[in-house]
Amino acid sequence: MTQLANSGRRQFLQTLSAGSAALLIGGFPFISRAADAFTLPALPYPDVALEPVISAKTIAFHYGKHHSGYVANLNKLVQGSEFADMSLEQVIKTTAGNAEKAAIFNNAAQIWNHTFYWQSLHPNGGGKPSGALANAIESSFGSLEKCKEELAKAATGQFGSGWAWLVSDGAKLSVVKTSNAETPLTQGLKPLLTIDVWEHAYYLDYQNRRADYVAAVLDKLVNWQFAEKNLG
Ligand code: FE2
Repeated sequence: MTQLANSGRRQFLQTLSAGSAALLIGGFPFISRAADAFTLPALPYPDVALEPVISAKTIAFHYGKHHSGYVANLNKLVQGSEFADMSLEQVIKTTAGNAEKAAIFNNAAQIWNHTFYWQSLHPNGGGKPSGALANAIESSFGSLEKCKEELAKAATGQFGSGWAWLVSDGAKLSVVKTSNAETPLTQGLKPLLTIDVWEHAYYLDYQNRRADYVAAVLDKLVNWQFAEKNLG
């Protein structure tokens, strides 16, 4: 266990005890606000839980520095403004497409995207979806393999930083990719799961081999149960 990892675990416990209000997305508690500030949501598993696909070192930087940094930045940016009392989703939807509010949008959306990403992974993930999600994948893509192929294609094909998403438009499922902090939340789509393809998500473990990171996530970590709950 590294010192960074221990520090991160203390931070998770402090976050959990901060008396935050909880939002529910797909039945999972997303802690996004304390009384007077946005807070870093707890990681849903220990920092070593995703090894060997994603190392504790990557988690220490990705969660402990990047995700945490977006929270600190947003709190500074919205202090004393009309955004200070909004939910995270309200901030994202209110600032989307407004160039003058790009910094607020970017940090707010990155908090949401990362919280959703951590939930999209599970130490015992991979395998096959079941129930309504399995049926929706079959009818929308033809097969699970085709769905995974499209996710891999979007994740590896995204030029530069961004995200690959499995989404629902209410009638069928599809795969979309977004750049930088962009999120399907602002496109009238319901996100079911996501893969972060910013370099900070994989570079310590895979260097330039993004395709290897994506393949390992899809085979071993992807949380189909989370996607099924989001499908509703
Ligand atoms: Fe990230």
